[in-house]
Amino acid sequence: MQISGLFFICFVCILWPSLVSGQGHVLDKPVTELCLNCICEAISGCNATAICINPEKGACGIFRITWAYWVDAGKLTINGELPESEHAFIHCANDPHCAANTVQNYMKQFNQDCNDDGEMDCLDYARIHKLGAYSCKGDLPYNYQSTFEECIENYEDQGFE
Ligand SMILES: *[C@@H]1O[C@H](CO)[C@@H](O)[C@H](O)[C@H]1NC(C)=O
Repeated sequence: MQISGLFFICFVCILWPSLVSGQGHVLDKPVTELCLNCICEAISGCNATAICINPEKGACGIFRITWAYWVDAGKLTINGELPESEHAFIHCANDPHCAANTVQNYMKQFNQDCNDDGEMDCLDYARIHKLGAYSCKGDLPYNYQSTFEECIENYEDQGFE
């Protein structure tokens, strides 16, 4: 009895992120937490203030997600909102959890070796996130790249991979 109760609690806590992410499906997550943290550091300083810095294309929340990116990532929503509803995009992009799942979905779909080093890893995800899936081999803006690299080095110094 006690064991099955414990099992149930863990089952709920494991499922919870996919339950709250709403309409879309998050089947697996290619991007590590560490990598997500460094992408968010580089792109917004992980500033969780709910804002969109570009009124036309969006660029909202800690990952500065654009509307097109959100669409390509499967239009995840929060609080059971319909993807078609007017504010579904902004609400998701400004919610750190929904935004992170959006990044995961996008990377799952557009996973590629942008820097031709024979691996698909965080360096590629950082490129895909900033430059888009179809131009990820291009040049990264200096500030983005240096903040990202500093963040990764920091983690490496602390013994994380
Ligand atoms: C976060 O962003 C908001 C809006 O741009 C800004 O007012 C605030 O100072 C920022 N916070 C930090 C800690 O940088």
